[in-house]
Amino acid sequence: MQQVDLTQPIDPAKVMTELVTNLLAPIHLGGLFVKHLQEQSVAALVNVSSGLAFTPLASVPVYCATKAAMHSFSVSQRHQLRDTSVRVFEIIPPAVGTNLGHQDNYDNSKDQLMPMDDFINAVIDALQTDTYEAAIGAAEYLRQQRDAVFSQINP
Ligand SMILES: NC(=O)c1ccc[n+]([C@@H]2O[C@H](COP(=O)([O-])OP(=O)(O)OC[C@H]3O[C@@H](n4cnc5c(N)ncnc54)[C@H](OP(=O)(O)O)[C@@H]3O)[C@@H](O)[C@H]2O)c1
Repeated sequence: MQQVDLTQPIDPAKVMTELVTNLLAPIHLGGLFVKHLQEQSVAALVNVSSGLAFTPLASVPVYCATKAAMHSFSVSQRHQLRDTSVRVFEIIPPAVGTNLGHQDNYDNSKDQLMPMDDFINAVIDALQTDTYEAAIGAAEYLRQQRDAVFSQINP
């Protein structure tokens, strides 16, 4: 989740690292498993995007673009696999208290970060209820109210 100043020339190598980690890797991983998964009676691919796929945080533009792409890819992957045993989930997290390094984006206020236990419980619930596009906590707000939220998170 790299800060990228778009008013300055960018470092393509830095951008590529983020593209490969966030987008190419999950696409590749799905491809490596998909034949095996289709041989199972029930199977699932679980992709992780972000609430920022829907409303970008402008200071981390490449990260947000990869997550928007991950959302789009998940829709297509789910459609292509619709007649197989493989379910395709997209988990759409809010800001969760992990090591992602985004605390600075939240004024160091842990109050704005969803506790890990609550997040995990919500994800398990989504998997158990076949909620294929699961916007967790505040991510639903980022998904539904894009214009209003954009100005809030990008002052
Ligand atoms: N935390 C949030 O608020 C939040 C919000 C929305 C979406 N997400 C998404 O949730 C997912 C998990 O993030 P997190 O919050 O758990 O972050 P995290 O605590 O920083 O964990 C990231 C994980 O990715 C691994 N990783 C990073 N770069 C890698 C690479 N090049 N090759 C292989 N593994 C690599 C790290 O491995 P090492 O431990 O070996 O370094 C680590 O296990 C990410 O897709 C993130 O975008 C998180």
